This record gives sequence, C-alpha cells and structure tokens, in this order.
Amino acid sequence: MEFGFWIVFPEIQILQQINPLIPILNHERITFASEFKKLIQMKKYNFFAGPAILPASVLEQASQAALSFGDMGLSILEISHRSKEFTAVLEEARSLAKELLGLGDDYETLFLQGGASSQFFMIPMNLLNEGETACYVNTGNWSNKAIKEVEHFGNVNVLASSKDENFTYIPKGYDIPSDAKYLHLTSNNTIFGTQYHSFPDTDIPIVCDMSSDIFSRPIPGEKFGLIYAGAQKNMGPAGTTLVIVRKDLLGKVKRSIPTMLDYNTHIEKASAFNTPPVFPIYVSLLTMRWVKEQGGVSAMELHNEEKGALLYDEIDSNPLFVGTARREDRSLMNVPFVMAKGYEELESEFLNICANKGCMGLKGYRTVGGFRASIYNAMTKEGISTLVELMQDFARKKG
Ligand SMILES: Cc1ncc(COP(=O)(O)O)c(C=O)c1O
Repeated sequence: MEFGFWIVFPEIQILQQINPLIPILNHERITFASEFKKLIQMKKYNFFAGPAILPASVLEQASQAALSFGDMGLSILEISHRSKEFTAVLEEARSLAKELLGLGDDYETLFLQGGASSQFFMIPMNLLNEGETACYVNTGNWSNKAIKEVEHFGNVNVLASSKDENFTYIPKGYDIPSDAKYLHLTSNNTIFGTQYHSFPDTDIPIVCDMSSDIFSRPIPGEKFGLIYAGAQKNMGPAGTTLVIVRKDLLGKVKRSIPTMLDYNTHIEKASAFNTPPVFPIYVSLLTMRWVKEQGGVSAMELHNEEKGALLYDEIDSNPLFVGTARREDRSLMNVPFVMAKGYEELESEFLNICANKGCMGLKGYRTVGGFRASIYNAMTKEGISTLVELMQDFARKKG
C-alpha cells in the first residue's frame, strides 16, 4: 500500500537528493502519523484465524520501523542481526516473553523458525529417548499432527481423544502414567474452538502448544516444561516461533541431534546462531510491549472474557445460530458457530453481509463448517459488537 508522504512533501525528496543522510525523520514521522490514521480508519475487522489481527499501534510502529528503525536512518529490514540495535530487540523479546508468562530463570526463551509444526518433531527429538514414552491428548488437527511425529523418536501414548464428537470438547479425567517423559497438550484448538480452562494436576512436565492463545491469560507456569507458539495469531507475523523450555529437561537424550534442531545450539547463541527472523521478532516484541501496557496477561484475560461473553451470549440467544463447542470448553480465541437447523441455506448470505460491512475472515474451517470468529487479544469490543449487531439484524429479517 502506498503511504504517499513523498507526494505530500516533495521537498523531502529534494533534501535527500542533496544529502541522503539529512535527518528528516521527525518530519517524516508527523506526516506518517496522519497518513497512518487515515489508513487505520479504513481498516476492516479482522476475524481470520491466522495470520491474524494485530493491535493498530503495533502496525504503526512496525510500519515506521520498516522505513527507519529508531533514529538509525535504516529500515529494520536492512540492518544486521548482530547490530547492537537488533541485539537489544532480541534480548528484550526473550525476557519479556518470560516476564509476561511469569516464568523464572530456570526457563530459556528462543525465537526459532520452521513454525509451530517444526516443534512437533523437535520436541520428541530433544526430550525423548528411544524406548521412552511421551503422553499426548488428541484435541484436533494440530495435536494429531504432533502425535504423528513422535514415532520417529520414541513411544507415544495417546491418553485421551475427543475425536468421537468431532473434537467439540476437551477430554478430562484420564490417568497420566508416572513414567511419562512429558504430557503434550494443545491449550487452544484453533479449528474446533475448544480451550483448556484448567490444566491437569500432574508432576509430569506439560509440553504445550499455545500457538493460538499465548499471552491471552495467566498460566500456571510451574506446570510447564516447554511452551511453544507460532507467532502468527496472538503475537506477530508468521516467520518466528516462540519456544520457552525448562533448562533441566535438556541434554538428556542419547541421540545425536543435527545442530540447527538442537535447542541447546540456540540457547548457547541466544537465538542468534544463524540469522534470526528479524522483523517477525521485532513485531512480536511490539505486541508483547502492548500486552504489558494493557496491564499484562491478567488484563488480557478480562478483556477476552468480556468479548467472549458478548459473542457467546448472542450465539446462545439468537435463533439463527448455534455454537459447536461444548459450553465448558469454549475457546475465548476462536468461536465456531453454524446456522441453526432449517436455516443452513442462509450461510453464504450472512457471510456476504458480514464482508460488506467490513467483518472479514468469518468462514468456518471446512471440517466444522459455518462460521469461525477468531477474536484474539487485538480484537476490540467494538469489532465484536459490530458482528453481534449483524447477527441480530439478520435474525430480525430472517427469523
Ligand atoms: C494450535 C496450532 N498449532 C500449530 C499450528 C501450526 O503452526 P505453523 O503454521 O506455525 O506451523 C497452528 C496453525 O494454525 C495452530 O493453530
């Protein structure tokens, strides 16, 4: 998208032709801010599941940094990952992730590449010896993909699954064998809209895929041996994956691990063994700062509960729509719902109405059908209210 401040202020171009290093950054910023305000006012409500909505202030700062990072006069996209400026970004991002989650010095934070999907195999590769068993709970596509990778490295014991009811609930009440190396859970199931509202009581370290609800609420940190999350839902753009691992779990496997796939490689080099994904890490840092400014993960939880209540109350009271996940396991991040019996043929009409009114990305995942409203941290109450009004208006016309 063209921001157009060169056109608005052609004298800047002339100045720069005389001396490209002339410090015109403040002037640019003022112009940029007003252009940005106009663009942000045109922005639609983003209900996509991922890549997903980011806070407007994060987008503004990221856009500015793409032009000139701080006072460097260089874009963040073109500076060295070993520069002192980017080293400071990486350090702050690594410590802020732990601070927000309330984790201490016994954990290491890494920003890796390869998506959350690479963690499906890196986890057993780094934590599980041949002959040892890891326990998994199958709550949908993503946990199923994680389960499939374990057999390359050790034994997998699937303790419970909600496949019998198309993953509409979180299994509970299963026994966890005391010799399990770890218990793998997916805290929020992006596709099926279920979420753990409490975690099993166990001394076995929990390894948790938090890709779609990281930083959305406080967590009982001490239960987790490893937390991972692809950035592109609640944190930043695609391209980096946050991994937070308890140090004492590492160095216990006998196999030889390729250098790039060994967590210790990245711990020793503070996430800069090779060129890290500079921009996704920077944007993730901006989002984490934003979470902190909002009051941290407790404030996020309150905000998410209020938004969830607004939308779920409408789904439960509107005769045209039905929620698909069990009430007690409903996600505050991804809200799947379908047309009520007898109204199914109205689905595409409602989707079109939403899109025309600026509510984008509401089509449900193909195995669930209907609609899915992804309402991550950055979704505003105003966005939810707009959707709720469209649902009410549709019921008045069609009900
Ligand atoms: C819960 C969950 N885990 C893992 C993934 C896969 O992430 P990636 O695309 O970063 O590999 C996703 C993607 O949507 C997800 O929602």
